[in-house]
Amino acid sequence: MFRALTALSFASLVLGQQVGTNTVEKHPSLPISVCTAPGSCTTEATSVVLDANWRWTHVTTGYTNCYEGSKWNATACPDGKTCAANCAIDGADYAKTYGITTPSSGALQLQFVTKNDNGQNVGSRVYLMASDTKYRTFNLLNKEFTLDVDTSKLPCGLNGAVYFSEMDEDGGLSRFEGNKAGAKYGTGYCDSQCPQDIKFINGEANVDGWGGSDGNSGVGKYGTCCAEMDIWEANLDATAYTPHPCKVTEQTRCDGTDCGNGDDRYAGMCDKDILTKLDGCDFNSYRMGVQDFYGTGMTVDTSKPVTVVTQFITDDGTDTGTLKSIHRFYVQNGKVIPNSENVLTGTAKIEGIDAVNHISDDFCKQQKSVFGDNNYFATVGGMAAMGKSLEKMVLVLSVWDDHAVSMNWLDSHFPTDADPTKPGVTRGRCDPAAGLPETVEKAHPDASVIYSNIKFGAINSTFTAS
Ligand SMILES: *[C@@H]1O[C@H](CO)[C@@H](O)[C@H](O)[C@H]1NC(C)=O
Ligand SMILES: *[C@@H]1O[C@H](CO)[C@@H](O)[C@H](O)[C@H]1NC(C)=O
Repeated sequence: MFRALTALSFASLVLGQQVGTNTVEKHPSLPISVCTAPGSCTTEATSVVLDANWRWTHVTTGYTNCYEGSKWNATACPDGKTCAANCAIDGADYAKTYGITTPSSGALQLQFVTKNDNGQNVGSRVYLMASDTKYRTFNLLNKEFTLDVDTSKLPCGLNGAVYFSEMDEDGGLSRFEGNKAGAKYGTGYCDSQCPQDIKFINGEANVDGWGGSDGNSGVGKYGTCCAEMDIWEANLDATAYTPHPCKVTEQTRCDGTDCGNGDDRYAGMCDKDILTKLDGCDFNSYRMGVQDFYGTGMTVDTSKPVTVVTQFITDDGTDTGTLKSIHRFYVQNGKVIPNSENVLTGTAKIEGIDAVNHISDDFCKQQKSVFGDNNYFATVGGMAAMGKSLEKMVLVLSVWDDHAVSMNWLDSHFPTDADPTKPGVTRGRCDPAAGLPETVEKAHPDASVIYSNIKFGAINSTFTAS
């Protein structure tokens, strides 16, 4: 996914790494279930925390902004270390400022555009917490992860994303002395895009080379890399799930070549996306030829909530085995719906790809060969590398629009100038112009997504047909 340029349209809000005291930080409660067998689950009292990048950052001694518009205050922030010492991130008013609410127990709603005292907030990203100061970490090997998703109010161009990132459990608090805020304030983000729009990385402000891109965001010299497992990237008309392994096995700051930009695309730490290809190894039913599977009124009917099950199968059926495949089921109206398969069904079968409905190294190899994509997924270690990272992942829930390529890689055709009839180019039925941020923010400010009933446990323990 192209998350690097996600904008925070937020006039005066920013971040630092001390802790501010203007707003008390109170994490919205989002309990989850942990299951050993169907019907045999216990509840865990988890909560969510807003990412640090969205927060107001001001000098520790008052109300002066450390960052405004898309610029750092040069007095408070002459360099990254000084800035981290001078600046504090503050508590968040989740509902009022960011449109993050819990409409019922175990449900989280993320509003796309929220009007507030500072103007408006666009999109958000939260992490699941085990306690007030630690993220909830998951070992996904030989396990399944399930949740209900309501994308009925999420049109083309938007992405309601649920994924796992290999972040530090404490947000980097203990590894980086400049970080005094930690997981309690949503620090330490990383993903396989090695995003450079993150204002504080490794306990230092990313002021070096910082340039505004658009809106209130910018990009600095450093990026923050780690493996990412995209469980769910979706809207009403498209969905994909995608492993993105990295060469590194914990949150790691990149600088230059190892961020994997431009011509260094295939020298980076991670299997990231670039602006011309979708990397990682994605399974998108529409892209895989079954165009009537996912959408309003289709086999998986997106006008209603749907249960999404993702299973991580190891070679020896144990929690310490090597990751072999990633499977997907849907449950809707009491029926278990297997993921779509690359077979002749009325839509075309894609030649050269086996009739499977899950992700494995073989699937990735065949898909990339037929679609003409570089198999960097294999270069950085493929399923085995992804599996190593799956042992300690942090859960991310978000909604965003795409300032780089209008979400065309998910729900339209991409590269935009490629022949849409060429296998792999068409990913969804959306108009490529629908996802332009200006358009989608104006046309659908009231868009939102609801995630609920998060369950985690043994294979086949979190869902049943009724
Ligand atoms: C920058 O920060 C300093 C304090 O560190 C403050 O005196 C000054 O007013 C700030 N500048 C702006 C433009 O906010
Ligand atoms: C889980 O259920 C599927 C489908 O019913 C079955 O094929 C598979 O063997 C089951 N796996 C385990 C570990 O029980």
